[in-house]
Amino acid sequence: METVTNKLPNQVEDLLPLKGTDHIEFYVGNAKQSALYYQYCFGFELVAYRGPETGCRDRVSYVLQQDKIRFVLTSSLLTDSEISKHVALHGDGVKVLALWVDDATASYNLTVERGAVSVKAPETTEDEFGTITTASIQTYGETIHTFVERKNYKGAFMPGFEARKSNERIQSIGLKYVDHCVGNVELGDMDRWVKFYQDVLGFKLLITFDDKDISTKYTALMSKVVSNGNGYVKFPINEPAKGIKKSQIEEYIDFYKGAGVQHIAIATDNIIETVGTLRKNGVDFLYVPDNYYSDLLDRVGNIDEEIEDLKKHNILVDRDDEGYLLQIFTKPVQDRPTVFFEIIQRKGAKSFGKGNFKALFEAIEREQAIRGTL
Ligand code: FE2
Repeated sequence: METVTNKLPNQVEDLLPLKGTDHIEFYVGNAKQSALYYQYCFGFELVAYRGPETGCRDRVSYVLQQDKIRFVLTSSLLTDSEISKHVALHGDGVKVLALWVDDATASYNLTVERGAVSVKAPETTEDEFGTITTASIQTYGETIHTFVERKNYKGAFMPGFEARKSNERIQSIGLKYVDHCVGNVELGDMDRWVKFYQDVLGFKLLITFDDKDISTKYTALMSKVVSNGNGYVKFPINEPAKGIKKSQIEEYIDFYKGAGVQHIAIATDNIIETVGTLRKNGVDFLYVPDNYYSDLLDRVGNIDEEIEDLKKHNILVDRDDEGYLLQIFTKPVQDRPTVFFEIIQRKGAKSFGKGNFKALFEAIEREQAIRGTL
């Protein structure tokens, strides 16, 4: 079988209108330190905070923002809470993929009627800046989707949070918006979760990659990409496939203790500058050997960037019918080999870099081999 690509539906028939990703909440062991990492390494600005100083007794959260991207970093103040158990089991990881909607109650009712498992019924909270309504449903593993309705809110983030600023002036590094968020699920579960996004959230299957597309000599995985109607929210779902050695997806699931978010792809308009700054700030990236670049132009045709700049920063290129894209993966951003980031610049291409899968997955295998998990 080959890669199958489908067109997005007309927006008019969109079952669940989404305005984009509202925020991504990570449950972490030490939110204060993680918040500094994302400020000083990734160029996010601190915009809001909650904790004991704001009357919240059980947790602290730092809200960071860069252009349209909002991260919430949350740690427990208690020994035995849902958050501390989550961190003990999974390590630092993504708990909430929050979706920005016009009507959180309608989104919740619709999805629960269509089979979603409820996590939290709609709740409206209020402060001097207005009201916010949120409601949550379950997705793969212990990850949840929270619908966020903020059309009647003018504050920094949500009621319960106070506006805060970074101590130092933070320079944006050019990160613009969340391009896609990838989930890893257990062997045999990919189709079930694709069906969940299709049946319950009205997403469409955009692309199917089978294990022939995504395999190296040793390891393999399968992936299907689902998208909402307007294409603002895209969720590739991966499952491991049989290979001679252990799939990177199995390694993730072993360390995360189940299904969860594998990587968040963030778009930039200038990947060479963005990656240059990330490297200077201490962020580690996967290494792809220099020979990747020797026949690059034969594979992708003319591009605006200098090959030497791409090679210097180890940035990969792929082309589809509509244009090309540049991309790179960080190494995992916490101690366990679980969550990482992709930095992506799209120049017309709407695909996911299929031509780079082999080089990227061989790079991951080299890291797995060093960890003794291949
Ligand atoms: Fe990706």
